[in-house]
Amino acid sequence: MRVCHSIDEIRAASRTARRDGKSLGLVPTMGALHGGHLSLVRTAKAQCDLVVASIFVNPLQFGPNEDLAKYPRDFDCDREQLKQEGVDFIFAPSVEEMYPAGAVTYVTVEGLSDKLCGRSRPGHFRGVTTVVSKLFNIVEPDRAYFGQKDAAQSTTIRRMVRDLNIPVQIEVCPIVREPDGLAMSSRNAYLDPQKRKSALVLYRSLTAVQERFDHGQRTVHVLIEAGKQTLRQDPSVRLDYFEIVDPETLDPVEDLSRVALVAVAAFVGNVRLIDNIVIGPA
Ligand code: PAJ
Repeated sequence: MRVCHSIDEIRAASRTARRDGKSLGLVPTMGALHGGHLSLVRTAKAQCDLVVASIFVNPLQFGPNEDLAKYPRDFDCDREQLKQEGVDFIFAPSVEEMYPAGAVTYVTVEGLSDKLCGRSRPGHFRGVTTVVSKLFNIVEPDRAYFGQKDAAQSTTIRRMVRDLNIPVQIEVCPIVREPDGLAMSSRNAYLDPQKRKSALVLYRSLTAVQERFDHGQRTVHVLIEAGKQTLRQDPSVRLDYFEIVDPETLDPVEDLSRVALVAVAAFVGNVRLIDNIVIGPA
């Protein structure tokens, strides 16, 4: 496994790979790797000849009052895990390498970037789509792997790729959960044992919706209320949003005869967590 810190280095490696007729998979991450990230790596390994994992805590996608400074970072541990998984290249650039002084160009997916997390985190998706399009231009992967955990992010990136004709195939992998149902997240590291317990209410709110849906409930506001009601049971949890939306447009839906995304975001103490499920016809 080779670790590349510069754009020139990873670009040369990727071009050599492609010249040799090898297919390339890219797994973009911000590090602090867990089983969710590793599931993307495994899928990439199964589908591509060579796998690049990027590790870059992207300042552009953090708001001024968010956790950029204290975002968990452990490069040695990440490197070991990626080596174990048989990753071929790590791309771990510095902030200066990715955003040299004077960089003023951004990629925005109009209309999607201000839905769900984009509404409560203004500028967040612009930061994501800008860095991901840079990573696509630098690595030029055949396929890139994202998680359903960040459903709105995956939808936004798919739309960007379609609208800008970026020659990469986007693969979205299922959410990996802890045995008790909590969706794996780098931010779970912030949770003390009490908050870790409280955090489970996010998944419980989604299963509450799933159960009612399975029993035939098709009225959206009733389902949303069931989810919110579950979240209210824990006073240390503050709801950000609980929505049922179209997975492509991220707009609220009323008609549940088609697949819909049930998405929740909530603060557990001051830790913001997200989770989602998909409901719809079997
Ligand atoms: P990060 O939060 O590190 O996540 C990297 C990838 O792992 C994302 O595609 C995310 O959806 C996926 N992922 C996280 N938790 C997961 C889980 N429990 N199950 C399955 N997949 C999971 O998302 C980002 O970084 C950044 O926004 C990035 C795309 C790297 C751009 O900076």
